Amino acid sequence: MTGKIVILEGDGIGPEIIKEAKKVLDKVAKKFNHSFKYINEYIGGAAIDKFNVPITDECIKVCKTADAVLLGAVGGPKWDTIDPAIRPERGLLKIRKELGLFANIRPTKLFSELKNSCPLKDEIINKGIDFVVVRELTGGVYFGKRKTETLKNGEIYGEDCMGYSTHEVNRIGKVAFELALTRSKKLCSIDKANVLDSSKVWRNVMKKLSTDYPTVEFSNMYVDNAAMQIIKNPSQFDVVVTENMFGDILSDEASVLAGSLGMMPSSSLASGRFGLYEPIHGSAPEIAGKNIANPIGTILSAAMMLAHSLGLVKESKAIETAVAKVLKKGFRTADITDSKSKPVGTTQMGDLICAEI
Ligand code: IPM
Ligand code: MG
Repeated sequence: MTGKIVILEGDGIGPEIIKEAKKVLDKVAKKFNHSFKYINEYIGGAAIDKFNVPITDECIKVCKTADAVLLGAVGGPKWDTIDPAIRPERGLLKIRKELGLFANIRPTKLFSELKNSCPLKDEIINKGIDFVVVRELTGGVYFGKRKTETLKNGEIYGEDCMGYSTHEVNRIGKVAFELALTRSKKLCSIDKANVLDSSKVWRNVMKKLSTDYPTVEFSNMYVDNAAMQIIKNPSQFDVVVTENMFGDILSDEASVLAGSLGMMPSSSLASGRFGLYEPIHGSAPEIAGKNIANPIGTILSAAMMLAHSLGLVKESKAIETAVAKVLKKGFRTADITDSKSKPVGTTQMGDLICAEI
């Protein structure tokens, strides 16, 4: 098959990790007889430097014509002091919103080979860590009304509103329930319904939806408790669903269990097959250009892209298996290294994964 993929390298380590993911995709194309056409576009600081905005309307138009978008990371100190309205992160929020990517899927899995990189005790790890955070991505406080103003007493005041309507909760809930059906048929919805109105709406909609999925074991949890349970007893989770900001925070927390933020892929989906795929980590400007970043999160994101947007499930599995094999052989980038491992750089990690495909 022929796949049309928009590449958004972004900033910092973005170009380095994307290069490795493309290398792996090219190997898959060769081995399984496909062709992937890449279209390079700009996002984040890279777009600000070129066009003075963190993403152009033209870029979003091009994305709409593609099967999928593969993104590196955005942001860096160079753009920290610019007008907040055009910060690199705004590019990311805009593309998510304009492409309708309301469902962010963030699998958290500890490869058994990376046990030493997980800070939890063996007795907890041995029960298995393999769950998926389904994060609502185009609503909540990220997209609510906001303002900053100077009060009469001279104080500066900032405000951000968090809100959810029925249809927004319903559609993300459906994604989560459907995903639960393909896994262990367990779903936990995370909210703060003991305090927030938006969470009360969230909980009611989820409860109602759960009656459509009688075979899924459904539960609710408050977000503060969830933050604790993810560390205390992560094996209790299979699929969790939560609102935008809670999902942002909990997925970073969860990444520690997977050994490193550098291991974590994600997909951001609308209702069809189109999706945007990116590692969950940031642009890590302090290590950019040093060939030490872990490309696995991006490579696994490319694997998710093959399965969901291009329907290439076997090819996707081939990438995941190759990653596991390379880890089993002891090769590690700096973020997941231990005393027994063989340290490798970004490009070498990409080469090793290609060699296993
Ligand atoms: C993420 C990131 C983004 C977010 C930032 C860069 C805007 O932290 O994808 O998790 O908060 O959604
Ligand atoms: Mg985040």
